[in-house]
Amino acid sequence: MLGWLDSHAHICSKEFDEDLDIVINNIKENNITKVMIICSDLNECEKAFDLAKNDKRFDVAVGLHPIDQKDLTKEDYDRFYMYAKNKYVKAIGEIGLDYHWHNDNKEEQKELFIKQIELAKQLDKPIIVHSRDAMQDTFEILKKYKIKGVLHSYSGSYEMAKEFIKLGYYISIAGPVTFKNARILKEVASKIDLDKLLIETDCPYMTPVPYRGKRNEPMYVKHTGKYICELRNIDEIIFQKQIHNNYETLFNSN
Ligand code: NI
Repeated sequence: MLGWLDSHAHICSKEFDEDLDIVINNIKENNITKVMIICSDLNECEKAFDLAKNDKRFDVAVGLHPIDQKDLTKEDYDRFYMYAKNKYVKAIGEIGLDYHWHNDNKEEQKELFIKQIELAKQLDKPIIVHSRDAMQDTFEILKKYKIKGVLHSYSGSYEMAKEFIKLGYYISIAGPVTFKNARILKEVASKIDLDKLLIETDCPYMTPVPYRGKRNEPMYVKHTGKYICELRNIDEIIFQKQIHNNYETLFNSN
């Protein structure tokens, strides 16, 4: 049962169209025991459900991403609600705020975020939160809703991470923790409570050292995991066990 897990992977996106079978084989051969497949494009959902149906290591999350929200139609919303109820969908996400790519529609982003939090509450599913250059607004919204979730590919400060943890959130660390100049992220990864920590690839992006610059895939999560074990001076098996407990507590305890 022990191995690594990837709490955030876009493996049904078009970047993997050509060789998804190889990527899945790599997942198995490298003993990646859990992969949360994130569907940001609704067209990815059916493929993800098929994978989850055939192999218990795959879970699915679906959410309307703040970056795409300008083009959403009524049909998109209807499809989203239908998929969100699917039994393989273990979380609503990624959802949230992104002021890096768009800062001219903050109110609309907040509205879409809150709408999906309310849906997650109704369905009794946790949320996977994307927050870029929007930490304070993200915090203000999450403070108002009692719901379980994770801040994915976390990029804020250690002090802020502690505040999210106080609200009950998990913090998920991606490949950039292995980058030389990632001083703040290294601090977060080494100091936050172990029982609130998750790891992820956010593939196809964010590839950890020593594969930085290449397309990312779930098997590379072990480089991030091993790196955090070194930072924290903790045994890999103990760390893996805790990360699996965290994953199950967050996504599978309903
Ligand atoms: Ni993502």
